[in-house]
Amino acid sequence: MTGRRELFLQEMGLGPVWRARSAPVDASDMGGVGAMDWAGLKAAVAGCAACELHRTRTQTVFGVGDENADWLFIGEAPGADEDAQGEPFVGQAGKLLDNMLKSIGLKRGENVYIANVVKSRPPGNRNPLPGEIAACLPYLRRQIELIQPKLIITLGKVASETLLGREATIASLRGKLHTYQGIPLIVTYHPAYLLRTLQDKARAWEDLCLAKQTMQDLCSKDSATL
Ligand code: URA
Repeated sequence: MTGRRELFLQEMGLGPVWRARSAPVDASDMGGVGAMDWAGLKAAVAGCAACELHRTRTQTVFGVGDENADWLFIGEAPGADEDAQGEPFVGQAGKLLDNMLKSIGLKRGENVYIANVVKSRPPGNRNPLPGEIAACLPYLRRQIELIQPKLIITLGKVASETLLGREATIASLRGKLHTYQGIPLIVTYHPAYLLRTLQDKARAWEDLCLAKQTMQDLCSKDSATL
């Protein structure tokens, strides 16, 4: 972390916060998702037929980890491995994500929750369509409300644009502190992209360092107010 960035963090009581100009993508609260507990939410996702993806999926992929986690990592949508196993990030990209977690002292399931924007696999691993994202978003929003993470890390363009409610490149979004519903949010590259684009791994490492520093700042701010 640079001294300048530290100064910013101190002056702002946390850090520079870039806010979305428009409201995040929203969808109607179908079936009272916004009031569901974990069990209700898991059942609703498992039986969801709100978009066409339910016709081609093997199973939904709800999310995995500590339901009281400080750290929430959000990806795009399940791929073939995740569709088969019912858990996010279990393929090659998942191995890299596990290593990214390890590099900052984290481990899947231990104070970490991992979820996707879309809970059903788009066929052929295509990007989820806007309608599919909108149909699934109430589930992610409720997961975030229930977890109440201290920090959200969005992995790649789909998760970042969805949570921030605007179109932008990862290059323009990373390296800054954003917020989602008042929760600090940091953007980084999707692990699948990093597997293909080795030269951006160093930037992803910077993002992870920013995330770690931000979490430390948030925790020390919390303990100072106790
Ligand atoms: N890519 C994602 O965005 N999510 C997964 O769960 C797997 C791959």
